[in-house]
Amino acid sequence: DLNIIDLFDRENGIVKASIYSDPDVYKLEMERIFSRSWLFLGHEGQIPKFGDFLVTTMAEDSVIVSRQGDGTITAILNQCRHRGNRLCLADMGNSKSFRCTYHGWVYNSAGGLVGMPHETDGYHNKLNKAEWGAIRVPRVEIHKGLIFGNWDAEAPALSAALGDVAWYLDAFLDGAEGGIELSGPHRHHVKCNWKWQAEQHGTDFYHAAISHNSALTALNPPGAPPTSFEYTQTPDETGYQFGMPELGHGAAGWFPARNDGLVRFAPAPAPAYLGGPAREEMRARLGDIRTDEMGSLVMTVFPNLSLNRAARYLRVWQPRGPNRTEVVHYIILDKKMPEEVKDAIVRGTSFSFNASGLFEQDDSENVALCHRGASEGHISRQTPLNVQMGLGFGGPHPDFPGQINHVYAEEGARAFYSHWQDLLMGGAK
Ligand code: FES
Repeated sequence: DLNIIDLFDRENGIVKASIYSDPDVYKLEMERIFSRSWLFLGHEGQIPKFGDFLVTTMAEDSVIVSRQGDGTITAILNQCRHRGNRLCLADMGNSKSFRCTYHGWVYNSAGGLVGMPHETDGYHNKLNKAEWGAIRVPRVEIHKGLIFGNWDAEAPALSAALGDVAWYLDAFLDGAEGGIELSGPHRHHVKCNWKWQAEQHGTDFYHAAISHNSALTALNPPGAPPTSFEYTQTPDETGYQFGMPELGHGAAGWFPARNDGLVRFAPAPAPAYLGGPAREEMRARLGDIRTDEMGSLVMTVFPNLSLNRAARYLRVWQPRGPNRTEVVHYIILDKKMPEEVKDAIVRGTSFSFNASGLFEQDDSENVALCHRGASEGHISRQTPLNVQMGLGFGGPHPDFPGQINHVYAEEGARAFYSHWQDLLMGGAK
């Protein structure tokens, strides 16, 4: 009975509050978005050797991601085909097979059913094991070390789904020889719908000066360079926002911004390293624009992967019902960094953005309160909400791909909901 066209008015930038809590919307999202989109599974560096595996979720479905003997990566549903028990209870490890703990069916790491107790006297050798393997994620592709999976065997290639957002994403991945590695994950839950965090990370710099005022003021030591907060107080504050409505991606960044960003709050030697040799290497590899003008880049790869460059995190917003999100948080490190720099960055990022981080608490409270405001109450659920900032003022830019607007805009949010709506209506993938 959903009238999907009424949920988001893209011409006027109006979203209906019920999209954040309606169980029917959530059910359709599982079917038409999370079963058809490329979803982040992990990083290649987490499973370098044959038999290495990690367990993650694709929305609500638990999957095992494994390195095979030929170097390829497979992903299978973490579900026994006998009675549905989990095949693996660990988060990661090394195993070339998974044995169900209930009755003992055994699967290889590519999902093939290879044996079970009482195959002869119980099943009389009649069970066709080839038909009862674990469900395989049909598409797994890699972008510069990031592993993505897609339940839709007919989905366009990952490169097509990323499109122009790859140019922004690569600012996180290509800044140092040898690439990145991920520290973590850390996990915590927030009482809000998954879209709040995913959409806001692709669009909202508007909140920072207000929401993070206390944290930024408290953290800025006397005589230190200006914080981002102070940039927002100057008349020449600027920056860009990038939206890609045909694919749902969004990104934003303030200018100028230093690449050491929030990690300046990390203990030594992180700030010196990030502002010194790492920055010059980044300039040589990525060019001036992505070095000097995108240090504060925050972005969302549709539907639920977000990255923050200044805080050096990558995270996935995993839906856990319409009213709860599991935040899966990793810290991005350059693989070749000295160990003491890695350690300092982990401390600095955890101090600012993590379950107990100063800024995280501001943001988590915002989205939880927005969720309550939009979902508790019959009248509240019918309210039109405003996504109009900068509407009609976007356009192309000679240096950046996508639809470009001022940093104080909701170009990314409108891109997010446009693609979200297209998918719900069964349209463009
Ligand atoms: Fe897995 Fe029975 S549920 S072997």
